[in-house]
Amino acid sequence: MSGRRALCRAEEIAEGEARGFPPPPGGLTGLVALRRGGEIRVYVNACPHLGLPLELLPGRFLDASGRHLVCSAHGARFRVEDGRCISGPCSGEALESVPCEVDSEGLLTVPAEAGR
Ligand code: FES
Repeated sequence: MSGRRALCRAEEIAEGEARGFPPPPGGLTGLVALRRGGEIRVYVNACPHLGLPLELLPGRFLDASGRHLVCSAHGARFRVEDGRCISGPCSGEALESVPCEVDSEGLLTVPAEAGR
């Protein structure tokens, strides 16, 4: 299947915020989108260590400083800008980046099958 799917209106993701999205129909993994420096990035919500979702509670993706994504299972921390793990059991690996775009109607879109 091709095409794109809309996650939300881009303006709904505030500066410094991270937000989770469910997988496409039939999928299991889901996505996390975050905005930093005005730019939105999207990653597959699966830790490279064991493939678990990052958040312990809905919408809780960032560490206490708000500077890094953190995996709730074993504490791996990831750089926001490129998803690279900087500490924890998967240090040096990275979250899978998902190409995202904001369309002419202001919707944040990703490839339809992203996060499967
Ligand atoms: S599953 Fe994420 S650090 Fe272990």
